[in-house]
Amino acid sequence: MTKVATHYDQVADVYDNQYDQRQGRIYYGHICTNVSKNLPKGAKLLDLGCGTGLFMRNYLKTGGEVIGIDISSGMLKKAKLRNDSEVAVGNAEKLPFRDESFDCISSILAFSYLQNPDYMLEDAFRVLKPGGAISLCTLGRNIFTAIVPAAYKIGEKLKVSRVGCGSFGEHYYSEDELYGLFSDAGFVDVSVERRSFAHVDLKPPLYSITKKIEPIVEDKFPYLAFNICASGKKPE
Ligand SMILES: C[S@@+](CC[C@H](N)C(=O)[O-])C[C@H]1O[C@@H](n2cnc3c(N)ncnc32)[C@H](O)[C@@H]1O
Repeated sequence: MTKVATHYDQVADVYDNQYDQRQGRIYYGHICTNVSKNLPKGAKLLDLGCGTGLFMRNYLKTGGEVIGIDISSGMLKKAKLRNDSEVAVGNAEKLPFRDESFDCISSILAFSYLQNPDYMLEDAFRVLKPGGAISLCTLGRNIFTAIVPAAYKIGEKLKVSRVGCGSFGEHYYSEDELYGLFSDAGFVDVSVERRSFAHVDLKPPLYSITKKIEPIVEDKFPYLAFNICASGKKPE
């Protein structure tokens, strides 16, 4: 966990520029749309692994209230500058909040780093109010992403300095795994869908082409999408 935190402390500025400008903003916006559609608007949200507060900003526009936690103080420094919201250093696997204190929970591109995703979901269930919603987006396992951990391991050896590149023991998820984890934690109305074909790291011509065919891929060939979104509800 410390290794992940140190990495994000170091890349906070680069991360924020990458995801809040040009194609990064479009890529991130697409994720936000898919996560937000399963959350109530204008409610009290907890964002797990909130990073620089990009999703918090998005949610605040609905008139809601947001609290974010993250293990990287460097990322949180930027989140504090971005939003007038409470953020705290904390581990998403052990939440420092009372039972039934949030209407909804989000988590964007942080779930893959968790060593114990079941702890996170159990604690999320605990701090949600009855009827509360959880919606997250993480990395999906497919033919393209299967090689990423090995490539990142090599990247680390070669001292490649780029966001997310390192040997962090990240886990890429399948539909069945997410469905099982959500159901085991007690969530109902669980929905899992693969999203994103135009990847933020693609060069412009390739990015535009993949963006154009993204809706077709998501609809007809979802296995080829890079990310995977999962949502559920705590029973009333
Ligand atoms: C790819 S960034 C995503 C940041 C933010 N959610 C966003 O959408 O821009 C991954 C974030 O997850 C955080 N993270 C990783 N493991 C975590 C954990 N166990 N608890 C809380 N945050 C964690 C990292 O520090 C980093 O800020």
